[in-house]
Amino acid sequence: MSALDFSGRTVVVTGAASGIGLAIAEAFAKHGAGLELIDRNPEALAAVAQRLETSADITAHTLDLTSTEQIDALANSLQQRRINVHALINNAGIEYPTPLSDTATDAAPRWSRLLHNNVDSMYLLTRALLPLIPKSGCIINQSSIWGLSGVADFSAYVASKHAIIGLTRSLAWELGKQGIRVNAVCPGWVATEAAMRSMRAMAETAGKPEAQMIAEILAQQAIPELLGPADIAGTFLFLASPYALAITGQAIVVSNGEVMH
Ligand code: NAI
Repeated sequence: MSALDFSGRTVVVTGAASGIGLAIAEAFAKHGAGLELIDRNPEALAAVAQRLETSADITAHTLDLTSTEQIDALANSLQQRRINVHALINNAGIEYPTPLSDTATDAAPRWSRLLHNNVDSMYLLTRALLPLIPKSGCIINQSSIWGLSGVADFSAYVASKHAIIGLTRSLAWELGKQGIRVNAVCPGWVATEAAMRSMRAMAETAGKPEAQMIAEILAQQAIPELLGPADIAGTFLFLASPYALAITGQAIVVSNGEVMH
């Protein structure tokens, strides 16, 4: 049996309805995993589940990860089905600019909402599903190269991605004695709808055409090609596999060489 064969294993993927989460779900399905897919977008999630169910055992859960009640209901339903979670992939996240110059009354709540959505949700889901994660299971959290540096006008998103690395490192210590590994992945720019929206916002602020922004980003990468969601998914497979049994508490950069550390 190949070390990348996940037959008989269940993997939970959040934010599975689009972008990188969808690519992660596809990759695990291709390697035999059973999937519990989570997203708050019911139509997109149903379409993904329908597409993947020919190759894998899929259950789709429409829920908002900022809701403790909805997370607890999910945990109860997985428990009743006696699901063992081999890998919990905390991928869901949102991004939008939060410049200090925005002094509108909703600016501070928007800042907090992003942190709540990207970080608190990870803590809440991990806490709820922990009893279902056996020894040798793992947790993989989606951070970003923006979790390793600063970016003007995106302080809430950048702070959330830094926090995810802190959460990852702390939980690696907290859960290591139980044999559960916790790692983070830090993608560079990945051509998803969400990332392209941010790219357009940055281009507008800088007064540059979008194509020029993309060219500037590619010029900062050792391999000057735009990453796609599938380029990131393989790292999740690897981290969930027996090849990575000695890896915990790490933030693994996947950026075509934009960040080297
Ligand atoms: P996306 O917007 O295509 O996918 C995110 C998914 O998460 C969406 O389907 C959305 O409905 C879901 N989601 C968000 N908040 C949720 C919540 N509270 N409850 C349930 N579902 C929720 O975004 P993309 O680009 O695929 O990003 C995925 C992850 O990768 C995010 O955490 C993002 O920050 C991270 N990332 C993305 C990069 C990129 O360049 N695309 C670079 C580095 C990190």
